[in-house]
Amino acid sequence: MMAGVSGSSTTPLLCSLFFISSLLFASCTHASSQAPPPIVDGLSWDFYRTSCPMLEGIVSKHLQKVFKKDNGQAPALLRIFFHDCFVQGCDGSILLDGSPNEKDQPANIGIRPEALQTIENLRSLVHKQCGRVVSCADLVVLAARDAVSLSGGPIFPVPLGRKDGLTFSIDGTGNLPGPSSRTGQLLDRFAGRNFDATDVVALSGAHTFGRAHCATFFSRINQTDPPIDPTLNNNLIKTCPSSQSPNTAVLDVRTPNVFDNKYYVNLANRQGLFTSDQDLFGDARTKGIVNSFAENQKLFFEKFSNAVVKLSQLDVLTGKQGQIRAKCSVPNKKKVVTSVVEEEGVDLSAQM
Ligand code: HEM
Repeated sequence: MMAGVSGSSTTPLLCSLFFISSLLFASCTHASSQAPPPIVDGLSWDFYRTSCPMLEGIVSKHLQKVFKKDNGQAPALLRIFFHDCFVQGCDGSILLDGSPNEKDQPANIGIRPEALQTIENLRSLVHKQCGRVVSCADLVVLAARDAVSLSGGPIFPVPLGRKDGLTFSIDGTGNLPGPSSRTGQLLDRFAGRNFDATDVVALSGAHTFGRAHCATFFSRINQTDPPIDPTLNNNLIKTCPSSQSPNTAVLDVRTPNVFDNKYYVNLANRQGLFTSDQDLFGDARTKGIVNSFAENQKLFFEKFSNAVVKLSQLDVLTGKQGQIRAKCSVPNKKKVVTSVVEEEGVDLSAQM
């Protein structure tokens, strides 16, 4: 939940910080009228200003290299961010090893291992330069933010200062929405986490790039409610001889590798891959929002950035909560040395 959202402050320092972040947000998103979304206590826009000033440069530079070789990692990183934050909050729990673990649950089908490795590689690079001061949870958020902008999407700041969790949640993965959901179910599920219809339509726009496996959309083939474009239908029949086929289809038939507003144009043409996508155009509560984003990419970018900043603050651990993992896939071991408690990056997965 969005607990402890900072309210307006009367101190001159906070006012000027708010003003600066407001300008930063507005200029980054090219939306002059937009105030930055509120941020929860413990996070800040410049959290690593002194402890790791080169953080954002290191992340962006590395991801540019990664995406040059494999542009599928961009959508993969954005999905990892959603699946981390929506289950037990943005605490890096999706990165943790264990048997069983969170990332192997059915709702996480298709999470790409190479993108999980990219987060670990970022951690290693950043910790080498700055020491163990940056959390894996923050790296997940930064990587997702850069995955969007480096694929043609909006450039926007994200608040930082999350700590890593010590546990993962298998049951929590049941809260992730399924591809066969109707709009009413999606709206309910997201409303429970304080997201409105505009947020839901904007976040679904993440399906403007990336891929899906046959099992996730097989039930959409030959569907009449919501309807499916006949050409897309025929292509999906060829791609997926059965629901168990390991093949994949692109989420956005127009511009599969670009972060733009074509996803909404697809919906208007019955070319949404999932029922959860296509129904947004069929439901009166969301159709107008889909049309407005199809017509106005700037508006989509603005609402998407806002919703991502909001999503990035779900149930975060800050301050003395949690820890900064020495390796993203394992919590640090608590080691008692006489009366001093130290933390070490030791594999605890067997104890989870
Ligand atoms: C609204 C409800 C949502 C549903 C039902 C849903 C469902 C899915 C499913 C089933 C896949 C295919 C996975 C596979 O077969 O490999 C997928 C892919 C993807 N999802 Fe979602 N998703 C939703 C919302 C979101 C949100 C909020 C984001 C991010 C902000 C997101 C980002 C992505 C991306 C980028 C991919 C492509 C991943 C890749 O290419 O590896 N999704 N989603």
